[in-house]
Amino acid sequence: MNKARQEESKRNAGYHAAGMVEDGMVVGLGTGSTVFFAMERLGERIAGEGLSIVGVPTSYQAAIRARRYGIALSSLDEHPVLDIAIDGADQVDPDLRLIKGRGAAHLREKCVCDAARKVVIVADQTKMVETLSAPVPVEVLPFALESVSRRLAALGASPILREGVKKDGPVITDNGNFIVDCDFGMIDDPGGLEAAIAAIPGALECGLFTAYKEKIWVIVGEEKGCRVISLH
Ligand code: A5P
Repeated sequence: MNKARQEESKRNAGYHAAGMVEDGMVVGLGTGSTVFFAMERLGERIAGEGLSIVGVPTSYQAAIRARRYGIALSSLDEHPVLDIAIDGADQVDPDLRLIKGRGAAHLREKCVCDAARKVVIVADQTKMVETLSAPVPVEVLPFALESVSRRLAALGASPILREGVKKDGPVITDNGNFIVDCDFGMIDDPGGLEAAIAAIPGALECGLFTAYKEKIWVIVGEEKGCRVISLH
């Protein structure tokens, strides 16, 4: 898919997701380039229709963009239950299990996803796969980098410490931690792998999201519109 068509697909997904937001809702705001379009449209609705919402951002990026679009912000502490969360994904399988975290925001994204009654994933068609296989990002406590990496290698990955772009050395997340990217190849048991990674002390969260299919709606953006997938 060329860049222009992909951008149009992302816009269609993001705009559809923004249309699912109702007046008075508390909205989890994900991170990444597709959610950007949802926030853009929410900004238009706030300015044009007087839509009143409160956003809970999942990253500095989400917070900065939300402010640009006039979205009032709050926190997960103020709103531990959210009406809806809108977020992107790196891969989505037919059981609506996800890999997230290309942008190193998956720890807060998973907290927000867990707290939301409804989760709307916005993606273009390139994200839809039969079997999850993208490298799984793991947020790691810097203190435990080597011990966590050894445990991840024992699970079958070749852990790679994520390096900065326009910044020497490791990426530092919004939470002050490292990211280790783990290529497991084709992932036959995403839920089992997520649980195994969660059991490693110092592995703070991984980018596998396997427990939320009952409340996930996936909006797959296409050039001329979008299709909505849910399992309920
Ligand atoms: C952020 O860490 C990620 O989980 C993103 O939500 C995910 O990578 C999707 O981003 P794009 O919409 O930019 O592809």
